[in-house]
Amino acid sequence: MKIIKTLKELRSYRNEVSGSVGLVPTMGALHEGHLSLVKKSFTDNNKTIVSIFVNPAQFAPHEDFDSYPRHFEDDCKQLERLNVDAVWAPSVSEMYPKDFQTAVRVSGISEVLEGEFRPHFFEGVTTIVNKLFMQVQPTRAYFGEKVFQQLQVIQKMVKDLNISVHVIGCKIIRDAEGLALSSRNAYLSDDDIQVARQLNVILKQASALVKERGIQEVELILKDAIITAGFTKVDYVTLRNAETLRPISSLQNCDDVRILVAAYLGPVRLIDNIGL
Ligand code: PAJ
Repeated sequence: MKIIKTLKELRSYRNEVSGSVGLVPTMGALHEGHLSLVKKSFTDNNKTIVSIFVNPAQFAPHEDFDSYPRHFEDDCKQLERLNVDAVWAPSVSEMYPKDFQTAVRVSGISEVLEGEFRPHFFEGVTTIVNKLFMQVQPTRAYFGEKVFQQLQVIQKMVKDLNISVHVIGCKIIRDAEGLALSSRNAYLSDDDIQVARQLNVILKQASALVKERGIQEVELILKDAIITAGFTKVDYVTLRNAETLRPISSLQNCDDVRILVAAYLGPVRLIDNIGL
């Protein structure tokens, strides 16, 4: 497995590679969720490149950029075991040279939900993903439904800017009790993990409830259930049109509905979602 750290090396590697290339963008601290994207890329492409870059632009100053888990050597061992072709692991100065002044911003879909509570986030994501696409020039790129809105925002960017990369969405990988795997789960104590595992149980109940109680009432019931389970704060729990992430007035008007949640356990913010 080739470990590439500079753009110069990446360009010469990319020039030598022929056939289809799958890109899996990550911030490292890899778990089975990330690895599922890698495995999907193997089945679709001749070569698979995984990028590992903790992107400062998508963290607000009060967020966890400095403490974000970094396990580069372990990550590389896992990827090597799977037979990944190359890891693209640039430095911050390679990605954001001094006096960097450009950003890619998707409006609308990136202004709701996560965009409302983390206003800096999507501009950081779309800028870096755009750069990764231009640098690696993949045939396909793989994103998990774990950050469902991120997947939809990237689909929109690719469509709006006519980027010739196929964006492939992949299902959420969960532990045996349904907790969505996340690098940030490492921040949770054993007791917190028990509470966190309630989140998907609560979301699943919503699917059954919504037909008899209606959307607005179910959103309130969900919020109560999340707080009762032991979460300390709910940023949002809401039923949305899965493609546009706009609110829906009735189930009849929308055949693809997603329930999305962001809630805190002390300082740790968890997100999850399921299809209705
Ligand atoms: P990161 O949080 O490392 O996630 C990388 C990819 O793994 C994302 O597409 C995410 O949706 C997916 N993923 C995470 N947990 C998953 C799970 N349990 N099941 C399935 N997929 C999962 O998302 C980012 O990094 C960054 O924003 C990035 C796109 C790399 C841009 O910096």
